[in-house]
Amino acid sequence: MKADKTGMHGVWASRWTFILAATGSAVGLGNIWKFPYITGENGGGAFVLVYLICILTAGIPVMMAEVLLGRKGRMSPINTMKELAGQEKAPQFFQGIGWMGAISGFFILSFYSVIAGWTLYYVVKMISGDFSNVTADGAGEIFGGLLSDPLLLTLLHTIFMVMTGVVIARGVHKGLEDGVRTMMPLLFLMLILLLGYSLTTSGFSQAAAFLFSFDFEHLTGASVVEALGHSFFTLSLGMGAIMAYGAYMPKQASLGKTILAVGFLDTLVALVAGLIVFSIVFTNGLEPGAGPGLMFQTLPLAFSALPGGQWIGTAFFILVAIAAWSSALSIAEPAVAWAVEKGWSRGMATFAVCGFAWVLGLGTVLSFNEWSDVTLWGKTFFDSLDFLTANIMLPLGGMLIAIFVGWFMTAESTNAEARIKNPTVFAIWRFMLKFVSPLAVLAIFLHGLKVF
Ligand code: TRP
Repeated sequence: MKADKTGMHGVWASRWTFILAATGSAVGLGNIWKFPYITGENGGGAFVLVYLICILTAGIPVMMAEVLLGRKGRMSPINTMKELAGQEKAPQFFQGIGWMGAISGFFILSFYSVIAGWTLYYVVKMISGDFSNVTADGAGEIFGGLLSDPLLLTLLHTIFMVMTGVVIARGVHKGLEDGVRTMMPLLFLMLILLLGYSLTTSGFSQAAAFLFSFDFEHLTGASVVEALGHSFFTLSLGMGAIMAYGAYMPKQASLGKTILAVGFLDTLVALVAGLIVFSIVFTNGLEPGAGPGLMFQTLPLAFSALPGGQWIGTAFFILVAIAAWSSALSIAEPAVAWAVEKGWSRGMATFAVCGFAWVLGLGTVLSFNEWSDVTLWGKTFFDSLDFLTANIMLPLGGMLIAIFVGWFMTAESTNAEARIKNPTVFAIWRFMLKFVSPLAVLAIFLHGLKVF
């Protein structure tokens, strides 16, 4: 099938809608849930520094490349890569970027939906007042109770997956645009409010020191790989999600500033979430390395200390659920768009993609209870999927994207699409794609494998 100028799926209303949708994709559980907990597990500041370096040297350049490929191809990542690899006479295996991305998407969506389900549970718990005057131990117990109940986890996972499917089936435009437009600003407001609260706690300065003092003692090869992987995860890179969104981007918009805005907002949300969570951790003598439950055990404490905390807490978890929702849509979009191009109806395509990811998600549900002892290389089912996607598949996808645009596309055809007006900025970006981003990924992989 040949794409016309705008492709069969349509185009965002404006550059701003693209920024909103891409920010909606980027800002999600990765920022508010995952970033604080992996920072805690990896000892703090030095990890944060490596993460920021990865965002700048690999994340932003690759994000621009991904959007560029999407807009040039105007199709699902699988068909876009098929067409462009042929056009630019690149080796066949570059087509694999699209396929590997679709597989990563299934894996990520499967566990993402389970964790997003936790936020739905917290909405209900907050409304019902179960977290009013809660102690640290009490919050831990509520969270522990949730994890030990596979049926409840499955129910929540199902609700979230259906919510995701309904919006995708309606088409990204109608479903997504209005939602993100109103909800994202509200989420930012809530984060500012919580940041204000955390400034009043005694643990704030310790939290700031934990995040921003770069003590390299704790840094291991594994944590460097984790930081790289997370920089891809948090920006939704390496699997075609942003490529699919790029395919709906208006032709005339320049890529540079647009992508910088998305990268900046995403990083800001993560750092603010980190400050909030760790202020509460240190104020209450909790453990920074508590793992995936960190956010779910700390934030309820903040809300119980705030006047009207029950309502603020309810609103906050609703917003986190929405942030997760807008991210989940982008995870499913590449596979759905591909099936639509194959001739499926959008509804059937959504049903198949979400249904398959739902089944896979049951593995993650069980990994927190019945299967918590079933491990492969010391990792549970959930940990393995998370590791395989974020730490291997996404960086690999990102590296191939950088190499494809950096080495197989000419400078002219690249900038015909990117429309970066400042020649120095363009040259720097291209240099990053050719050398810095691929080498950064390679070096970090080798370091992680303990080659050096
Ligand atoms: N970036 C989102 C988050 O931080 C998750 C996400 C959405 C994602 N789309 C993706 C992760 C594509 C990897 C690939 O929560």
